[in-house]
Amino acid sequence: MRRFRSGAWRFYRMKTVVLKIDPDAFDDAQLREACEILRSGGLVAFPTETVYGLGANALDPLACRKIYEAKGRPSDNPLIVHISDMDGLENVADKIPDVAVRLAKNFWPGPLTMILKKRGCVPDSVTGGLDTVAVRMPRSQIALSLIRNSCGCVAAPSANISGRPSPTRAEHVAKDLSGRIDMIVDGGAAECGLESTIVDLSAGTPVILRPGCITSGMIEEIAGKIKVDPLAAGARPKEGMKPKAPGMKYRHYAPKGELFIVAGDADEAAAKINSLVKEKESCGKKAAVIAAEETKNRYVCGIVRAAGSRKEEGSIASGLYKVLREMDEIGAEYIYSESFEDDKYGAAIMNRLLKAAAYNMIRV
Ligand code: TXA
Ligand code: MG
Repeated sequence: MRRFRSGAWRFYRMKTVVLKIDPDAFDDAQLREACEILRSGGLVAFPTETVYGLGANALDPLACRKIYEAKGRPSDNPLIVHISDMDGLENVADKIPDVAVRLAKNFWPGPLTMILKKRGCVPDSVTGGLDTVAVRMPRSQIALSLIRNSCGCVAAPSANISGRPSPTRAEHVAKDLSGRIDMIVDGGAAECGLESTIVDLSAGTPVILRPGCITSGMIEEIAGKIKVDPLAAGARPKEGMKPKAPGMKYRHYAPKGELFIVAGDADEAAAKINSLVKEKESCGKKAAVIAAEETKNRYVCGIVRAAGSRKEEGSIASGLYKVLREMDEIGAEYIYSESFEDDKYGAAIMNRLLKAAAYNMIRV
């Protein structure tokens, strides 16, 4: 594969149009301009039920290379191809196993990405030179309309500058990518708030490469025995290792301040966080706390933000990236987060939080 420059991308400023769409009441005609941009090789950020994606025609290598430039994304980190129907799957994937069809029937449209053997039409700039392709049919009606009426397959990573928390709102996309892309379709807040579950079906037993809102238990019910890649299960990547999902080796989701997760008994964790925040503040540092709604009042100093409620399933998952971005707005230099292991989405939340914290975990 020919490598191309990324990271130090050309600095350009273009006008980024923001198109507001009501996700519950829109018609396809409102997305005509967005579809036209995609068909002619441009970049459109759009809402999905997980996070906002930065889309380009998946079969246009030049358009896909623009994604890497706009995000500053390493060129060996492949993109997910978004489709709107099962014909789209046949167009990009080869040797589709039965288990993929069963998983699609159960979880598509929805937050599940499958890794399958790719067809020759899928460019290297989408797959990072791999012989496999990641495919997902999103649930968001705006995303489905955009895909169906533009190119039928839209490559889209999360619409953030590489390394930053994924965007769950159009404002987050604008903050990172305004002036670098043609259009942002603003369809309100993303429902799940964490990126899709990735399952590799390209070689034998299915392997979960990234946990998400479709849990490994839900996949096991349909697919039978599965494996969970150690990186998806929370293991720290080792120097020089080659993860199956190349994106898992990069630091991700990170706020600018130094983030620590404090895990253990809730009362002891709160006491520890209070003492750490006090210590930082006494040295003139700005410290902040990420808590749950139920426990936020336990913190007596620092700036405290709740990611969501432990009682409302999915609310911490959907609020996590927003709160990580707020930490930058506050200018927090040190951030202490409660641990969120016990929710249904705990595996996915902790996978992202550990990466955001560069695996800094304090156990009490
Ligand atoms: O929910 C989502 O999946 C969102 C929305 C926009 O759909 N997209 C997203 O894309 O999270 P991105 O690029 O941020 O993450 C894609 C992940 C990366 O870790 C990448 O390495 C992995 O998918 N990936 C893509 N193609 C792959 C392949 N052929 N084999 C293994 N991993 C792959
Ligand atoms: Mg991403």
